[in-house]
Amino acid sequence: MPPLLELIDVTRIYNEGSSSEVIAVNHVNLRIDTGRFVILMGPSGSGKTTLLMLLGGLLKPTSGTVSLLGTEISRLSEKELPYVRRRQIGFIFQGFNLFPALTAVENVEATLNVKEVRGQKAEQQAKVLLEKVGLTARMHHLPEDLSGGEKQRVAVARALAGEPPIILADEPTAALDSKTGRTIIGLLKELSQRENRLVFMVSHDNRILDYADEILYMNDGMLLSHEDEEASDRLRKQIMSSVPPPVPGWAE
Ligand SMILES: Nc1ncnc2c1ncn2[C@@H]1O[C@H](COP(=O)(O)OP(=O)(O)OP(=O)(O)O)[C@@H](O)[C@H]1O
Ligand SMILES: [Mg+2]
Repeated sequence: MPPLLELIDVTRIYNEGSSSEVIAVNHVNLRIDTGRFVILMGPSGSGKTTLLMLLGGLLKPTSGTVSLLGTEISRLSEKELPYVRRRQIGFIFQGFNLFPALTAVENVEATLNVKEVRGQKAEQQAKVLLEKVGLTARMHHLPEDLSGGEKQRVAVARALAGEPPIILADEPTAALDSKTGRTIIGLLKELSQRENRLVFMVSHDNRILDYADEILYMNDGMLLSHEDEEASDRLRKQIMSSVPPPVPGWAE
């Protein structure tokens, strides 16, 4: 059985060949399987979001291959890719990406529609998802009338729509208070444990490290290898010193 996601020697260069060239992801190798809760850490600008977008087929590698269950998605055409993304992947972006003209429940419904769930069924499922993230009371509000944390919870509900086997999240707890953050992480953890899905999350939040099955570290576009414990340790300390201390009772 091929791994759920596999990156072989993946490099992504922005503005290649120009004076503003950036090697955002540099020769990364990675294999990840279902049922894992993986956290990716690293300093700002180290390439985390770029790696997440490569994993989800939102960005093509400059070189190397990205495979999903043995299918090389980095080779798929722009016509074939959306199908894979719709079926297999739920995204929680930095900045949420909500439709401003749609209410919370309509935002979730719209995502369900894209995943081919329609009409009353979509409305029903959207309500259940919003209940899961504790947003029932605010579901008829527009994004502009929601707080940052509430918007983030709508984004989480959207990512869960259609039950994708892979959930990719870019700092999903950044705008949340301790209690809501714990609820959301608990929910994602449960999905990986009980439903055998992959949750791959970028985070600076050291309060959630205890939830992880695996913690990956990125620096300067490179993924530190599992074997390189000394480098991982150094980076971990550096990250820890740059984030707020844990809030008591958060990761119990
Ligand atoms: N569209 C783009 N065009 C050019 N350069 C980019 C683009 N997106 C990102 N970069 C550059 O690539 C590098 C990696 O960016 P990326 O967004 O992946 O970092 P990150 O680890 O997610 O950072 P942060 O923690 O601040 O979100 C950075 O130097 C960034 O400036
Ligand atoms: Mg980022």
